[in-house]
Amino acid sequence: MIHLYASETAAAASLALFVILFGLLWVFRVGWLREANAVDVLVLILSCAFGCRVTAKGKTCQWPKNVDFTGRVALVVGASSGVGFSTAEQLAEHGWTVILAARNTERLMYAKKCIERHVQRRGSNGVVKVLGTVDLRSDASIRAYVQNLTAVKDKLSVGLLVMAAGALHRHLTFVGEAADLKAGAASISSSPPEWRSLECTVASNAVGPFLFTQLMLPLLDETAENSSVTSRIVNVASSCHTFLGPGRPSTFDPISMLHGLDKRGAEVIAGRRDPAAAEGGGGTQDKVSDLYYAKDFSFANFVGYYGLSKLCVMWNTRLLAHQVALMRFSKETGLITPKMRKSEEDKEKASRSATTTARTTGNNTALTPQENGRHNQLKIFVACTHPGISATYLYRELFSPRVLDFVLYYPSLVIFKTWFESAQSTLKAAVEDTDMVQGGYYLCGGEYGPESGVNCVSAHAQNPTHLQAYREWLMGKVAPSMKTTEKKEE
Ligand SMILES: NC(=O)c1ccc[n+]([C@@H]2O[C@H](COP(=O)([O-])OP(=O)(O)OC[C@H]3O[C@@H](n4cnc5c(N)ncnc54)[C@H](OP(=O)(O)O)[C@@H]3O)[C@@H](O)[C@H]2O)c1
Repeated sequence: MIHLYASETAAAASLALFVILFGLLWVFRVGWLREANAVDVLVLILSCAFGCRVTAKGKTCQWPKNVDFTGRVALVVGASSGVGFSTAEQLAEHGWTVILAARNTERLMYAKKCIERHVQRRGSNGVVKVLGTVDLRSDASIRAYVQNLTAVKDKLSVGLLVMAAGALHRHLTFVGEAADLKAGAASISSSPPEWRSLECTVASNAVGPFLFTQLMLPLLDETAENSSVTSRIVNVASSCHTFLGPGRPSTFDPISMLHGLDKRGAEVIAGRRDPAAAEGGGGTQDKVSDLYYAKDFSFANFVGYYGLSKLCVMWNTRLLAHQVALMRFSKETGLITPKMRKSEEDKEKASRSATTTARTTGNNTALTPQENGRHNQLKIFVACTHPGISATYLYRELFSPRVLDFVLYYPSLVIFKTWFESAQSTLKAAVEDTDMVQGGYYLCGGEYGPESGVNCVSAHAQNPTHLQAYREWLMGKVAPSMKTTEKKEE
């Protein structure tokens, strides 16, 4: 679940080593510990905590020095707390106009206020906006949000989409039975049945984000075309994607797990809560004895279903990377700011007047290798990240927000990450220029896989048969919603 290269793993290992070493010295009354007083022990504990904290920190994003981000627009979904909040805060600090999105207006407005205060303190010209709410468990809510954003695309052309929303549910709940979705703008009554029977963790972490990103592609493409700067999509995944829960060996088939959840979802939506009361006697027996049939998440295994949803995020990223691979700049522009482009154009004018060779800008063969490279630049770059472990509100179904804020957060920093630190890998994929890998997986330590050789991407995530099977499953869920949107546009 926690990959071996993570800085938190190193911090936890250092802590264990410290405890074992000094425990042994103390038990056997060796050296200085023979007469250690309370102050000595306190100093020892504090230095150990400090050492672990420094190790847990991880690397920070290297902001490109020659790029002016002022006025660029980022949409951060899941910005009201944790990784999304800190990502939005740091983007705004660097001059971005950041649109914050999540489900709850009050939390969003509070986040906006905090970020604006931070931006003011730093003397930055970043702007923060809230354009309403979105619930990734509801296709109606997603479609409505993207439609609103499309209406203001001339003023706010989004060039960076950070999908940082996420949920970790303690119990098995299906979209069609979620009380907070039944009323208002996020109504599920208009959702197709495939959507209503979705399990909520999978809906909010994987299926909703995929539909959201699909609907955002035309906007991101348009921004890239108009600004000559590659748009980016960053999906926040997790090392948990390697983990399908205790007692679930790596041979467990994640696709069958998804189908198992579907079976249960269909029954619940049809009004059958208790599997034993389901129709068809023998058939029910088969279902209940089915390895992949989930009645509810056991205490040990609910993290496994979260892991499954994060595995879907890894696949979403791969599917998107394939999808945008052919979307290239058609002009000799790309991955530069308008300012940089202006100075390049001036240089080019000067060199044109110096040469007698006639060149057509639309013709590849007539371009220099440098220009040719830019000609082939991707219009949309896609990556996913692991933020590291941090005491955010992700764990709000296990502990109340007060316990998370006041009891767990600060002690957890000995081996886990601050919100700021957990945003670094996401920022890296969002703004860094060098060594970017299309479809890559960026870690808080700064490395990326699978090309980096760091063994942090699960075999399931790299399995092409699973990817294809997942694509078929996913399209069965999102295709009806995408068709509805297309019809409305006509
Ligand atoms: N914290 C960790 O240790 C850790 C480790 C690995 C990966 N991650 C991943 O990092 C991402 C961010 O999580 P976090 O730790 O920052 O948790 P968090 O503090 O709970 O933030 C999650 C954000 O997503 C929003 N959200 C939740 N469900 C949503 C839905 N259905 N529709 C729209 N927005 C929704 C939340 O706001 P509302 O509830 O107001 O909507 C909140 O803004 C998640 O994808 C998580 O899986 C976290």
